[in-house]
Amino acid sequence: MAESLDIDKSLSDEAKYQQLIPQVESLLNPDEPLISNLANVTAALKEAFEKISWVGFYLSDGNKLYLGPFQGKVACTVIEFGKGVCGTSVEKKETIIVEDVHKFPGHIACDSGSNSEIVVPIIKGEIVYGVLDLDSYIFSAFNNIDKKYLQKLCLLLTEKFSFEKILL
Ligand code: SME
Repeated sequence: MAESLDIDKSLSDEAKYQQLIPQVESLLNPDEPLISNLANVTAALKEAFEKISWVGFYLSDGNKLYLGPFQGKVACTVIEFGKGVCGTSVEKKETIIVEDVHKFPGHIACDSGSNSEIVVPIIKGEIVYGVLDLDSYIFSAFNNIDKKYLQKLCLLLTEKFSFEKILL
């Protein structure tokens, strides 16, 4: 297993994702628990992008979202479907980019320093198994480039892993 990532921090975000995704792919091991794999995905994203203040997964038990592997400050542990950016992403089955979280009705502030956010749903078939959530202290930190590559990453995860049994 690679012990460190090789990301050129001087590159554009798009070029960084292009370097990062194959490295994340080689880190993923479907023979090991999904939770361990997701933990490394959050670490890889946090290491590659300085704009990220918090990155983590919220995982669904079919009724609510529960905090999964993450990097950053302590965060709220339960989010109801339809609530906050994460719960809205689950309900709409869509990626949501929020340029200014203070203007998003019902935004759940886990860290008062956070100013922008992107949430990507993890969908397999018709089922939403959770979300990948990224926050930034910078306003408008995330755009369609992040959306494109983070969706690619989530697709990769659903191709490699069954999300059926992640929650106890
Ligand atoms: N801001 C999210 C809650 C999770 S934290 O950002 C870690 C939301 O509104 O759903």
